[in-house]
Parts: sequence; C-alpha cells; structure tokens
Amino acid sequence: MLRIQPATGERLQPALGLLFSPLPAKARTRRIAEIRREIDEGDFDPKFLLLAKDNSNPVGVQLTVIRDDDVGMVWPPVVAAEFKGLASESIEDALLSEATRRLDKTKAWIGQSLLEPEQTREHAALQRNGFTRLTELRFFERLLSDTSDQPERAARLRLKYEPFRRTKNRAEFAGVLDATYRGSLDCPEFNGVRDGRQSLKNHEAVGAFTSDMWRLYRRDGADVGVLLLVKRFDQKAWEVLYLGVVEAARRSGIGRAMLLDAIDAARGANAERLLIVADVRNLPAVGLYESLGFQPMATRVAFVRLANALPGHRPYDSARQQ
Ligand SMILES: CC(C)(COP(=O)(O)OP(=O)(O)OC[C@H]1O[C@@H](n2cnc3c(N)ncnc32)[C@H](O)[C@@H]1OP(=O)(O)O)[C@@H](O)C(=O)NCCC(=O)NCCS
Repeated sequence: MLRIQPATGERLQPALGLLFSPLPAKARTRRIAEIRREIDEGDFDPKFLLLAKDNSNPVGVQLTVIRDDDVGMVWPPVVAAEFKGLASESIEDALLSEATRRLDKTKAWIGQSLLEPEQTREHAALQRNGFTRLTELRFFERLLSDTSDQPERAARLRLKYEPFRRTKNRAEFAGVLDATYRGSLDCPEFNGVRDGRQSLKNHEAVGAFTSDMWRLYRRDGADVGVLLLVKRFDQKAWEVLYLGVVEAARRSGIGRAMLLDAIDAARGANAERLLIVADVRNLPAVGLYESLGFQPMATRVAFVRLANALPGHRPYDSARQQ
C-alpha cells in the first residue's frame, strides 16, 4: 500500500538519499549535507519534499520549492531504480497528485518545471498530472570580451532611462511592463494572466538587484521599454531578466539599443558574460540576441500548471490547461 508523506523527521534521510540517488556517491553526500544545512537555517522547508513508501520501503520522492514570488518550482519525481514501467508510473502519479494538491493550498499561482529535452519519462509524468508543455526556452550567453558593439546607439535614438526606485516609480514600471506584454511572443499563453505588478514581484524575488540596472526607457517623453538586469552571484555574469518594448515602438531599433546598453552596463560592472533566455517561438527576440553575438548554451522544456484558484481574481482562461 503506497503512502505519501512529507519527508520530515525520520523520513528525511531516506528521502534525501533517494532524491539524489542519480548522483555519484561523493556529490550525493555533499548535496544531502547542503540541504540539511538549509533546513537547519530555515531556508528549505522539508514539508514540500514528499516521500512515497510501499509498506515501510521508500520507493519514490518528489520536491517542490515555493519561491518568494509565489511560483512553485516542481521537480519531477525520482523513483527507486527497481521499479520500471507501470509500477514506476503509479508511484510518480501518486507523488505528483499529492504535490499538486498541496501546491493548490499555497499562494502559488503557478507550478513550473524546466526539464532537459531528453527527460522524456519525466515529461510524460508531468503531462499525466495536469502540466502542459508550454514551450522550449533557449539560454544564451554573450562574452563581454568582444567589444565590437556600439552602445552609443541609445543616444542616437534619443533614448533616456529612469532607474527603478521601489518607493517612487514601481507603479510606472509595472504599467510599462504590462504595455510591453501586449502582442508579445514571449510565452504568449501568459498574456492576460501575468500582470506587470506580479512580474515585478517575480523578478524582485530572483535575487538582490541594483536599482540602476532596472531601467524604464523613454523617447521624447513617451515610455517605450523596460530593461531588467541582475547580477548572478554564482558566476561572473549578469543576466537580462527582461527586455521589452511597447508595441507601438517596436521595429525601430529600440530593443537593439536597450540590449547594447545592457551589454555596456554589464561590462562596466566587470562581468565576463551576459546571459539571456528566450522562448524559442519568439523569433524577434531570438533574432535580436543572435544578431548581437549571443550564443545558445542550453535548451530546457518548460512545463506549467496554473493553480486551481488564482490569487487576485486574475483572468486566466487564455492559459488554462486543456
Ligand atoms: C523582442 C523585442 C524586444 C525587439 O525589440 P524591437 O525594438 O522591436 O527590435 P529592434 O527594432 O531593435 O530590432 C532588432 C532586431 O531584432 C529582430 N527583430 C525585431 N523584430 C522582429 C520581427 N518582428 N521579426 C523578426 N525579427 C525581428 C531583428 O533581428 C532586428 O534587427 P533588424 O532590424 O536589423 O532586422 C520586442 O519585439 C518586444 O519587446 N517584444 C515583446 C517582449 C519580448 O518578447 N521580450 C523579449 C523576451 S524577454
């Protein structure tokens, strides 16, 4: 009889052992020690680590992390190696069904999972359990040692920017973000679901930000775009979290000028690389990044599941799962 419970107390060690079982022994020991430390420091809640037991044997495990921005990052289940085929699928399904039931009780408005294209078994498990394959995301990087770009372009286009000040212009930033979502090909399923305020909250949760690197661009006094740049603490890199131009101002070189500004700003902050992610269907964005020397580094398949009850009465029909 299969039983799914949070990996608290004596269930923690077997759950962590199973979670990291695909790793080589040394890496496994290190990861377990790291997670235990995070639990002790209150940074990780084992309540969202679920252990499946068959009688008293641990047979599967599944992890969800609820981020500060109310996004649930859902990891696909890991099932003990001796279970294959249907037996393995039923353990995966039991874990994911309990995980999503618990996710729906939190404030999270979306559960998402980013998987490698080859993880087809995990793709299938998520799809059996209410997740929709949204798109593929391509991760790009641009080495900043290549200095052949021309950041003076922003000046030539008469672009000026105002830096983000949380207490002063948050609403304005949110409003321009909203305007850049119109007609966007960047995960268009979210048009009408996400709003600028929620997105700012998401982006603020990604890490410490330098407010001068969050920029609202104007041309001749009119709002034309938003650029959100953050430092990546794990690498000598900065990342463009978001770059968007309002619909009426597109195709006049503003996106290119803003991205050149981002390259210049990251270089000025002594970064070695600038990172950016695109929905592969977003051809304007992919074309822009490639034309400025960004190289594709990795591809991940994005699976999403919207919460049963979205907070804030947000409209959500356009992104509802079929
Ligand atoms: C992607 C985006 C930022 C481009 O901004 P833009 O100001 O329209 O782009 P530019 O005029 O500077 O064009 C720069 C390059 O982008 C590519 N591009 C832009 N629009 C394009 C389109 N509709 N079709 C094909 N390529 C396009 C081209 O390579 C273009 O170079 P070119 O003019 O020499 O052909 C803009 O379309 C946008 O804001 N979209 C909505 C939000 C979004 O998708 N953001 C990116 C994801 S984070």
